[in-house]
Amino acid sequence: MQTLIVTGGAGFIGSNFVRYMLNKYPDYRIVVLDALTYAGNLDNLADVWKNPNFSFFKGDINDAALVDNLAQNADAIVNFAAESHNDRAILNPQAAVQSNFNGVWTLLEAARKFKHERFHHISTDEVYGTTDGIFREGDPLEPNQPYSAAKAGGELMVRAYHQTFGLPTIVTRGSNTFGPYHYPEKIIPLFITNLIDDQPVPVYGDGMQVRDWMYVLDHCRGIDIALHHGTPGEVYNVGGDNDRPNMEIVTLLLKFLNKPESLIRHVKDRPGHDRRYSLDVSKMGGLGYRPEKERFEERLKETVDWYVANEAWWRKIKEKQAEYQAFMNQWYAERK
Ligand SMILES: NC(=O)c1ccc[n+]([C@@H]2O[C@H](COP(=O)([O-])OP(=O)(O)OC[C@H]3O[C@@H](n4cnc5c(N)ncnc54)[C@H](O)[C@@H]3O)[C@@H](O)[C@H]2O)c1
Repeated sequence: MQTLIVTGGAGFIGSNFVRYMLNKYPDYRIVVLDALTYAGNLDNLADVWKNPNFSFFKGDINDAALVDNLAQNADAIVNFAAESHNDRAILNPQAAVQSNFNGVWTLLEAARKFKHERFHHISTDEVYGTTDGIFREGDPLEPNQPYSAAKAGGELMVRAYHQTFGLPTIVTRGSNTFGPYHYPEKIIPLFITNLIDDQPVPVYGDGMQVRDWMYVLDHCRGIDIALHHGTPGEVYNVGGDNDRPNMEIVTLLLKFLNKPESLIRHVKDRPGHDRRYSLDVSKMGGLGYRPEKERFEERLKETVDWYVANEAWWRKIKEKQAEYQAFMNQWYAERK
């Protein structure tokens, strides 16, 4: 039996990954460690809560005593825990440094102490900065924002623990991910839920920023493949091979929800906003990974349908979470 600690498992990708792993590997034990920040949500794990192979611990990845306690009985750590929102990290860079850099180091220390078989760190394509071409794993890291700079720092510490201490590490750099349980501050769930309520959608600048979009199950599959078959010390791009400008996403969401273009509001762009990301995923292809890019529109429609069918999930956040409302009011007041 394998015991995996999944940090940040109550968040968007983490909770989808927990569900995916419990289904795929019935002999694995999954231990979630999550601080339940504004983005952590036990509702995301409601359907796995009673699974005997699942357990949950509320706590911070910076709490070395708690991390050691869990790590001593585990074989590997998969680290999703992070302050994941660029905009929030502009307002409060300290929280990003604390979770995306310092916390990674605390986890690495525990993995080293208890001689784990794997340390899998979930990073992001944003560590590369912006490009007119395509990012390959050997390219320089040129992050432009506090979020991505803290993520880059975290993954460089992962690299150092491999080079210096021989820790069997894997880093995956994921691209923009979408799907169920995505916190409604990020573009796709924010826009879907605004449109359901006939509210305007705030598009940064001209909306022609390009992102590589990947369905969350593709991301989970990529992580699973790299975790089990990746070479220790290596970095892998996990993407959707599916570059789209934001305006194309907005147009598709309007179409799926049958809403008018008059709901589009162009607002002041995010400072330091990267213009374009694009990922070469051929190294992951060598491990057998292939994103289902031909299903992109179908998956986006399914995601829209999920938000329509799960209003209670997102209304609890948008209408009752004071932290959500405070952030949205402050951030978008500055974008007018
Ligand atoms: N969402 C994307 O498009 C995307 C793309 C590439 C990479 N990533 C990376 O994937 C990971 C997960 O992203 P997400 O979108 O699911 O984020 P999320 O914000 O939905 O979830 C983050 C989770 O981490 C927890 N957390 C935060 N700080 C913590 C701490 N100090 N200790 C313990 N738990 C803590 C939160 O409570 C939350 O449950 C992040 O590392 C992010 O950088 C995300």
